[in-house]
Amino acid sequence: MMSQFWSEVVQQLVPYTPGEQPKMQQLTKLNTNENPFPPSPHALGAMQAAINDDLRLYPDPEATQLKQTIAGYYGLHENQVFVGNGSDEILAHTFATFFQGRPALLMPDVTYSFYPVYCQLYQVAPRIIPLSENFTINPADYTGAKAGVLLPNPNAPTGIVLTLAQIEQILQANPQAVVVIDEAYIDFGGTSAVSLIQQYPNLLVIQTLSKSRSLAGMRVGFAMGQAHLIEGLQRVKNSFNSYPLDRVAQAGAMAAIKDEDYFQQTRHEIMANRSALVQQLTAMGFNVLPSMANFIFACHPEYDAAQLARQLHDKGVIVRHFKQPRINQFLRITIGTQSQHERLIAVLTQLIH
Ligand SMILES: Cc1ncc(COP(=O)(O)O)c(C=O)c1O
Repeated sequence: MMSQFWSEVVQQLVPYTPGEQPKMQQLTKLNTNENPFPPSPHALGAMQAAINDDLRLYPDPEATQLKQTIAGYYGLHENQVFVGNGSDEILAHTFATFFQGRPALLMPDVTYSFYPVYCQLYQVAPRIIPLSENFTINPADYTGAKAGVLLPNPNAPTGIVLTLAQIEQILQANPQAVVVIDEAYIDFGGTSAVSLIQQYPNLLVIQTLSKSRSLAGMRVGFAMGQAHLIEGLQRVKNSFNSYPLDRVAQAGAMAAIKDEDYFQQTRHEIMANRSALVQQLTAMGFNVLPSMANFIFACHPEYDAAQLARQLHDKGVIVRHFKQPRINQFLRITIGTQSQHERLIAVLTQLIH
């Protein structure tokens, strides 16, 4: 029953449903795009070292050293970096900073399903732009934005990537609006738009340590853009929660970004596992969209996706299915280890004849 005490906005809200986080062990968990590899040993060491008496003190509210580390990594100035408690929190602040109260936020019909929830919470009217028949974003469709443009690159849950030239086309067509590129999955084969920041005052790039840095459990995200955009986010953050990143998260995030060897090794292994899995699924009759993410989006012309997801679940293999128009015959499968894939394929072989 709806509480009479809730505000109008909260009564209308349909909150985001995160992928299942099962309590059972021994599952092949390929449903929330986590990294199958552990965090960098240096990150684990730094976090363990950060668990000390200093935890009685508040953390650095500006996470200065972490921002400097990110700025150094990407060749930016410290005032061009913002950090937050996961990129979801940064997206929320992005809505409050740039979109709230303005008409026409352009976003695709098939995209990260948290975006429509933020639209409701922040009372932003989206202008939904359908993907083309083959599930690609057509940059020419993104014109006339008033509030802004919001896109994941690669898109989720399709995994399809835009080139930098296509992103530039969108930036140039909307000079009066902030164009937000959510690069949660960029490290798995796409090209980051970070290199465009000095040129485009309307570009905000958001990344996360949840996927390519194996730190979903620490909740660290960051945004990069020219200083005037970052300052806006900073104003909202300091009106909401001054200390979004705890001491342990700041220490772990810094060490993870500095461990380049581990980052390269694990992301390449995921990309190799992705190619192998695409080949196997294609051989079983699946159509797999071309993915540059740590997940693939696949459908089988002869088998119902919801039923396959249920049957896989019964056998301890969890993938994600979205009951949404256009994509309800697809399964989103996170790229895992080779042994996780062996299990997935073994179960699918029982289900698909
Ligand atoms: C496109 C996209 N953006 C942002 C996020 C949020 O990531 P986090 O809050 O863990 O940084 C996700 C998580 O699945 C995602 O798929």
